[in-house]
Amino acid sequence: MRKITVIGTGYVGLVSGAGISDFGHHVTCADIVESKIKLLQEGKIPIYEPGLDELVDRNVSAGRLSFTTKVDEAIQQADVIFIAVGTPQGENGEANISAVEAVARSIGKNLNGYKVICTKSTVPVGTGDRVCELVRETMPEGGEFDYVSNPEFLREGSAVKDFLWPDRVVIGASSDKAFDILRDVYRPLYVNEKPMVHTNVATAEMIKYAANAFLALKISYINEVANLCEAVGADVHLVAKAMGQDGRISPKFLHPGPGFGGSCFPKDTHAIAAFSRKKGVPMNTIDAAIITNNDQKKRMTEKLKNLVGGDFSGKTIGVLGLAFKPNTDDVRESSSIEMIQTILDGGGKVKAYDPMANESMKKVFPNLNYSHSWEETCDDVDAVAIMTEWNEFRGMSLEKLKKIMKAPIVLDTRNILSIDKLSEHGFQFDNVGRKKYYDS
Ligand code: UGA
Repeated sequence: MRKITVIGTGYVGLVSGAGISDFGHHVTCADIVESKIKLLQEGKIPIYEPGLDELVDRNVSAGRLSFTTKVDEAIQQADVIFIAVGTPQGENGEANISAVEAVARSIGKNLNGYKVICTKSTVPVGTGDRVCELVRETMPEGGEFDYVSNPEFLREGSAVKDFLWPDRVVIGASSDKAFDILRDVYRPLYVNEKPMVHTNVATAEMIKYAANAFLALKISYINEVANLCEAVGADVHLVAKAMGQDGRISPKFLHPGPGFGGSCFPKDTHAIAAFSRKKGVPMNTIDAAIITNNDQKKRMTEKLKNLVGGDFSGKTIGVLGLAFKPNTDDVRESSSIEMIQTILDGGGKVKAYDPMANESMKKVFPNLNYSHSWEETCDDVDAVAIMTEWNEFRGMSLEKLKKIMKAPIVLDTRNILSIDKLSEHGFQFDNVGRKKYYDS
């Protein structure tokens, strides 16, 4: 059993801390934000993430997981310290690593014996060197440590599963000793023969950006294919399906939609584009993925505008789905934000609903009319825009939907409704890369 401290209780820190305690280690999650720690100490989880409450509960009850604001003490008592603080987008698209730097200084000051310092936050290549430099500058004489980059590949909405059953664990270690310690932290996964990828620090840092940027690129690519499908009368649903049957391509992350959002892809694509330019090796493919994604968000607003006759003024639109993806309450960079803003700017009104994210969206748009079900949202509206593929929207009764709407007009940006059924029920509709039908 190792003594572990995880600094930062965002979704990466919290899921990782709870997951590592589930592997049998003694974990302290530390954060300077008192309100978050207070909630956690009271047994409440500050974010919605399926399965996280059970995971936290189980390990708190077993005495393996605790929460504190005393970051210095938490560092002193640990053998391994994970840095999992935020790296928001800063100037010129670069990741702002000031929180990581501040933690590195705290670790240095509290280095009371050999420790492994491990970064989980997504940080530009070279940050490991910077962390080591800051620890050396601030640590007592004779202090000893090793450094590891151990990027996380969790997806919001399935983060617990992704942590406990990962495809691989990447360990970019500054020494063999540190690699062995990290492998021991992940012992149950190692025993289950999950691949442990042993690299140097820069390679591990690069793997994280290369993976996220590639997935973002794949989404932008299929979105452009979808747009071309519209122009040539092809169906992207079947195009993507047949493409994905080629094992070299894979069907995953090949779903067209309203453009990617969230706390990772938008930020990480900008960061890799910025640091590749800085290194003199600009990545044109990533620049293109960013442009395509911004265009895709706009394209959805144009589609809705066309559906309602070219003008939002005086129209009330039901927006179904506010989170950037299902199974989360996170609305960061969600395509629904641009959609709502455009409707409001055009003089329209919005009725909005998300099964989990109404409260989060109230921080962005405090004055919208928020509903508590799809029926309430769609009642007497001029059109509906489906922005997130929650299961409850897949299961909507089209008969009922048509009855309660003022006019039967639907924009399905996630392609979750059956085109045949929409036609049968006499809807006017549009989607992404499939057959559309409306009076223009
Ligand atoms: C992403 C990565 O998938 C994780 O591996 C990574 O660890 C994480 O970022 C991170 O860096 O922390 P996440 O942003 O939580 O995870 O969610 P995704 O499932 O990747 O979805 C991102 C966006 O892409 C969503 O808006 C989603 O709707 C969109 N998307 C995804 C599509 O439009 N089409 C797809 O086929 C897949």
